[in-house]
Amino acid sequence: MDSFNKKIIIAIDGPAGAGKSTVSRLLARRLGIPYINTGAMYRAAGLKAKRLGIDFSDTESLKKMLDETEIEFVWKDGRERLYLDGEDVTDELYTPEAGKAASDISKVPVVREKLVELQRRIGREKGGVLEGRDIGTVVFPDADFKFFITASVEERARRRWRELQEKGIKIDYEDVLKDVEYRDKQDSSREVAPLRKADDAIEIDTTDLGIEEVLEKILKYILEQKGESSSS
Ligand code: DC
Repeated sequence: MDSFNKKIIIAIDGPAGAGKSTVSRLLARRLGIPYINTGAMYRAAGLKAKRLGIDFSDTESLKKMLDETEIEFVWKDGRERLYLDGEDVTDELYTPEAGKAASDISKVPVVREKLVELQRRIGREKGGVLEGRDIGTVVFPDADFKFFITASVEERARRRWRELQEKGIKIDYEDVLKDVEYRDKQDSSREVAPLRKADDAIEIDTTDLGIEEVLEKILKYILEQKGESSSS
């Protein structure tokens, strides 16, 4: 398939564990455009604040911290690694504690302001598949394509649990389910940029779909709009 010659923005939003990352990564690769994982940025911000012992209610310190923070994605073996101030912290970002810290810190308006600014800068520079909670509603409301990926809460918890097992992290399914429920509630009910489907986003329920099927649905839609066939 030809790469897009314009800086195309594809927004992929949805709740935790719906399969957004895997699909977004594959989609970006198929289209030959960058993949920007915005959840990883909130995770990195949460990690740094925790390391520095900054209370999430201390907005002044959080603002100062982010003014002095560098977040960069580097590609290694077909996956993105996140460098926080020059240190590869990727492996620390995906524990349930880091997920909770990310969800908690993402409620803070100044944190969202700073990270949205960075996301827009990266997106405008090269275009890409941006994955998160508020890409189609806030970060790029005029994105070329918007998708909202969902799945039942039990299925999402099962997927997260399996992922953690594969990474060698031992945890009970019930605890993962509780974590996913906690984040759903918090991400959807926060005041600033809550998780919400954009009115013009295409919703895909992945509960009974495999990754390839989801990817094909998205590609088919994009290529139909572009007037190409998905088999090229
Ligand atoms: O996608 P993820 O599970 O890695 O995201 C971690 C947390 O970051 C999630 O609970 C909510 C927050 N987040 C957000 O508020 N806005 C985004 N665009 C992406 C993530």
